[in-house]
Amino acid sequence: MPANLIKRDGITALAAGAAGLDQPEGNPRLKQVVNRLLIDLMVAIDELDISMDEFWTGVAYLTQAGKQDEFGLIVPGVVLEHFLDLRLDEAERRAGLAGGTARTIEGPLYIAGAPLLKGETRLDDGTDNGEVLFMEGQVRDVAGNPIAGAVVDVWHANSMGNYSHFDPTQAAYNLRRRIETDEEGRYRFRSIMPSGYACPPGSQSEKLLQAMGRHGNRPAHVHFFVTAPGYRKLTTQINIPGDKYLHDDFAFGTRDELIPHVERVTDAREIQKAGLNKPFARIRFDFALTKQVAGAPTTVVAREHAEAA
Ligand code: BEZ
Ligand code: FE
Repeated sequence: MPANLIKRDGITALAAGAAGLDQPEGNPRLKQVVNRLLIDLMVAIDELDISMDEFWTGVAYLTQAGKQDEFGLIVPGVVLEHFLDLRLDEAERRAGLAGGTARTIEGPLYIAGAPLLKGETRLDDGTDNGEVLFMEGQVRDVAGNPIAGAVVDVWHANSMGNYSHFDPTQAAYNLRRRIETDEEGRYRFRSIMPSGYACPPGSQSEKLLQAMGRHGNRPAHVHFFVTAPGYRKLTTQINIPGDKYLHDDFAFGTRDELIPHVERVTDAREIQKAGLNKPFARIRFDFALTKQVAGAPTTVVAREHAEAA
């Protein structure tokens, strides 16, 4: 078929009718968004001459992705979650907010309700023989003052790149904790070094990425939500340097400010002091939170989160 078969006026009229613009009832914002998306989609179909087969292949793909609960993977994979971060960064810049730790994507693998502990804790249950990792730091305001009572909600994959809850071989909340900072704003945890996540083999996400000549791998990383009363919620991650995918994350989550130095501790006395009998890794990373200000767009996202049973 040739391209550009339908006049723009015709497309606009079809979208307006389908979005209920001529109806007094309904949600005006929803109508506005559906109308715009329909126009853009019909224009794309007409301009690119998307065939019936291509269209229905797309519908079948999305249907299967929904059945397999994969939209949370596909959205970051096609850069949209990172794009939302870039919009929020720019909105904050325009609202005069600066100096906070860089944000990056949440991803789809957070589980709410992890155990809450004060000051320091251990995240792993001892069943993973990966490299021991100690991570510690301070939560501060942008002027450098420590924030006591902040909550560092941390989660990461095991040494196979798998997350508890989604990986039935791991105990509930393994490698997931909430840590309340001490009087000096400090948090500290012991865990094991994560490996990078990969889209499940044969998944809808992997199929799409492969069809575009891409891979579905992430570099090793650790996720955080950092919250404190009166401050803006921070959603971020740190990436482990040296990972093959450090600057080739399929989910576009790497940011240069979020790649801390990893110290490899081999000194026998330090190893003994840590209660270990083999070398370990140590990361020091401080978080800076910006103050809550009227008029700035919220960083608290209404997103569905599972809770462990
Ligand atoms: C993750 O954080 O592991 C992740 C992020 C986006 C898509 C898939 C996984
Ligand atoms: Fe992750």
